Amino acid sequence: FTASEKETYRPDYHFTPAKGWMNDPNGMFYLDGEYHLFFQYYPDTTVWGPMHWGHAVSKDLVTWEELPIAIYPDSLGYIFSGSAVVDRENSSGLGTAENPPVVAIYTYHDAAGERTGASDFQTQGIAYSTDKGRTWIKYDQNPVLANPGIRDFRDPKVTQIVQADGTKEWVMTLAVQDRVQFYASPDLKSWSKTGEFGQNTGAHGGVWECPDLLKMQTPDGQEKWVLLLSINPGGPQKGSATQYFIGDFQDGVFTPDDTMIRWIDYGPDNYAGVTWANLPDTDSRTLFIGWMSNWLYGQVVPTASWRSAMTVPRELSLIDVNGVLLLKSAPAKELEKLRKDTYTVEESSKLPSQAAEIGVELDGSDAFSITLSNELGENVVISKEAGLVSIDRSQAGKSDFQEDFAAIHSAPMSWKADQLRIFLDASSIELFVNEGELVMTSLLFPNSPWKTVEFHHGINGGTLYRL
Ligand code: FRU
Repeated sequence: FTASEKETYRPDYHFTPAKGWMNDPNGMFYLDGEYHLFFQYYPDTTVWGPMHWGHAVSKDLVTWEELPIAIYPDSLGYIFSGSAVVDRENSSGLGTAENPPVVAIYTYHDAAGERTGASDFQTQGIAYSTDKGRTWIKYDQNPVLANPGIRDFRDPKVTQIVQADGTKEWVMTLAVQDRVQFYASPDLKSWSKTGEFGQNTGAHGGVWECPDLLKMQTPDGQEKWVLLLSINPGGPQKGSATQYFIGDFQDGVFTPDDTMIRWIDYGPDNYAGVTWANLPDTDSRTLFIGWMSNWLYGQVVPTASWRSAMTVPRELSLIDVNGVLLLKSAPAKELEKLRKDTYTVEESSKLPSQAAEIGVELDGSDAFSITLSNELGENVVISKEAGLVSIDRSQAGKSDFQEDFAAIHSAPMSWKADQLRIFLDASSIELFVNEGELVMTSLLFPNSPWKTVEFHHGINGGTLYRL
């Protein structure tokens, strides 16, 4: 490869590791001016392998600095997905009152144990940092949660819950095959099971992975709990995807409001996403990031020295659509800082760069069509027709690496589309309809960069930003 071929498809503003393989985002927290992002990482090849936690930090959620690997596999296993919390009161005793620790809770995957045919090869372990996430020390009595004999027992997401009387408790949500289990702990070291959910609810086309439990507010100020649950396979566009449930969480038990199946993103390429812990007290947002790929083809996409990027960071909130609560994912407001030059889009306009944002005002007819194309005649069509929002990437460049990649992906949207924001980068498109009331994320591998955007119908006007 020449240096530039090696970098073909490298995004400008989405996080990618400099080299090697990346999958799920892990252990995100904010501390002292830095947003931390860890990720499932295998440095030695560009396919999945013995997992480490890679590490990156950002001061603004849009420019990332990759740091040395944070957590390495050890004799207990590979380091699978998990979360991290700032243990402000040093409940774990792993730091001091003056310098409280950050505690990472992750799954140990004992590949040797798996090969022997054992079923208890996934356990939960912890590690801590007292230097703002730079170095991590594994707890000397790992694992903290043994496996009861279930093959899939992983991806602990820990959050702190404050009871009405002010008592604080750590709650772990764990993906266990076809359900989640909830555990509680006073100190992040001893865990007791409080409940489980999901065996008979939700989508079950594949194994459940990477949960997250979020306390949120409805538009009219009611408290609700949202449970994110990634599933592989069984997503709406084939392969992996993330569903969510809305309900209540009380005494360690989750009760959904209904049995409707909801998806956080209707595109094929947003998986295993979870939210940031410990945002500053002045920031009440719920901030999310996902792995911008799909297990169907993640390991064979045509990038050279690295594989996979994260989505843009997104702000989650609950919305009410004709009496149904849904989760909206808006682009995080920090993304506006990326805007360099502004242009008005005519019916057909040239794109100034591979990294661009297009804002579109729709005309109220609830149907539209937009095409992106390049010099080779490859194109992507973004449209809404008869209540279906679609991204057609069937003619969008390289696709021979996997038979399902070249496809039209559609999602039902029964309410009106008024406005779009489209984020383009070297190898992706993220479509936010009505600021994220409906979202579709798709990888794209054009053989030459997108050059032109054309508005066909249903559009009043547009603004283009060079990012
Ligand atoms: C999800 C997942 C997790 C697991 C990790 C391993 O993509 O399968 O369940 O912890 O990837 O890398």
